[in-house]
Amino acid sequence: MFSPLKEDLLLHVHKYYETIILAVVSIGVTFFFLKFACGKVAISYRGHIRGRLGLPFIGETISFLSATNSTKGCYEFVRLRRHWYGKWFKTRIFGKIHVFVPSAEGARTIFSNDFANFNKGYVKSMADCVGEKSLLCVPHENHRRIRRLLSDPFSMNSLSQFVQKFDKMLCQKLKKLEEGGKSFVVLEFGMKMTFDAMCSMLMSVTEDSLLRKIERDCTAVSNAMLSFPVMIPGTRYYKGIKARRRLMETFKDMIDRRRSAKESPEDFLQSMLDRDSCPPNEKLQDSEIMDNLLTLIIAGQTTTAAAIMWSVKFLDENKEAQDRLREEQLSIAKSKPGGASVALEDFKNMPYCLKVVKETLRMANVLLWFPRVALSDCTIQGFEIKKGWHANIDATCIHYDPDLYAEPMQFNPDRFDEIQKPYSFIPFGSGPRTCIGINMAKVTMLVFLHRLTSGYRWTVDDLDTSLEKKAHIPRLRSGCPITLKAL
Ligand code: HEM
Repeated sequence: MFSPLKEDLLLHVHKYYETIILAVVSIGVTFFFLKFACGKVAISYRGHIRGRLGLPFIGETISFLSATNSTKGCYEFVRLRRHWYGKWFKTRIFGKIHVFVPSAEGARTIFSNDFANFNKGYVKSMADCVGEKSLLCVPHENHRRIRRLLSDPFSMNSLSQFVQKFDKMLCQKLKKLEEGGKSFVVLEFGMKMTFDAMCSMLMSVTEDSLLRKIERDCTAVSNAMLSFPVMIPGTRYYKGIKARRRLMETFKDMIDRRRSAKESPEDFLQSMLDRDSCPPNEKLQDSEIMDNLLTLIIAGQTTTAAAIMWSVKFLDENKEAQDRLREEQLSIAKSKPGGASVALEDFKNMPYCLKVVKETLRMANVLLWFPRVALSDCTIQGFEIKKGWHANIDATCIHYDPDLYAEPMQFNPDRFDEIQKPYSFIPFGSGPRTCIGINMAKVTMLVFLHRLTSGYRWTVDDLDTSLEKKAHIPRLRSGCPITLKAL
């Protein structure tokens, strides 16, 4: 019946029966442990997202933190995993499962179902810092009302005064820096300029000592937004909460002064207070105004300053684009009477500058990804996402996708001659949470590039390309120091 070979085999099986069972069980247990406890075995089947979840809570938090603490920046964490697991991958950070959504189609699904199927990830420290009435934290129903009431001063037409003031301030500062002949750090310069311009536009604060005091406190709040929420003296969270209290007192004081008619300058704050006599649905409560003043400053300053820094860096590395930009801007400067400010109409004559701004934002990815939480189980492009998982719209991956952008690592403003595919260019997000400061950010960059290229040439004094550690916004560690030379 059996061949001698089979018989031998059966004999061995019989003899070593227990050992074989033990071996099979051990392999099974090991496999099970790796798969579910450590997540090291990534099985790919349709709908399943590969990746390593690691141990409960800890997951890959340590790898994430070490990437954040390195000069390659926190996106290195994402890049490596995409290399290991493919475009879609999942991981566990601080106890939460995160999926990085890498496609324009995925972005469309999330943006167009924002609030219904997804919401912004709630981080306690963030809400404590910017306040529960902030656009960043407020629940859906209130978000729509607050956003509607905040929006008008940020429309393009309302920004005319802001443009003039920013332009004047910028001209003076650049002239002084050029005359001084010394190297200065563009990032620091951008931080100060955007902060001062925003405080002037939002609440007419122009006095330097008050500006610096508010800036110090806003920086402390910003640093505490992603910290561990315990009130222990010396911690970032503690300092941030204390700074928030001081800021709220300063804002409340300003509101009281305006209500008692001691002051009524024309600015964002006044436009909110002018609604005092409106029905409740048509005005903001004081706490809503104050939380959002703080939010606007924090959301606007670091982002715009980083974008300004990258534009200088990219233009330095791409002299042809710089020359074309200069040519366009000089022709605008020459067509205006000497000393005239930039006006909104001038932007119509800056098509190349607008392309430079867009290309800078595409390549810089100031906000690397946009976090959302799934409110129910769902599938995106066939991939299963469970309720409670974080689905991060990976703007960086989309902006570097070679199927959407030919030679994506090349700085090429002319690529924006073509109309972009839907959801493939999303530096300001999309849907109900689109950046409220989109116009302000764009005009700030346009004015900056106009004055820089029509008035000066520059040399970058530190060519190091490593990134600042512990930063969630990618910024050069050097901050991009430059020296100006007048044309
Ligand atoms: C280059 C500069 C800027 C970039 C790249 C940028 C990017 C973004 C992005 C991507 C979002 C949406 C995030 C998401 O969907 O989760 C956003 C939201 C927001 N941005 Fe900006 N932003 C910039 C400048 C500004 C400025 C100047 C302001 C303030 C005047 C501002 C205020 C806000 C606010 C308040 C939100 C939250 C909106 C909401 O949830 O309804 N941003 N920004």
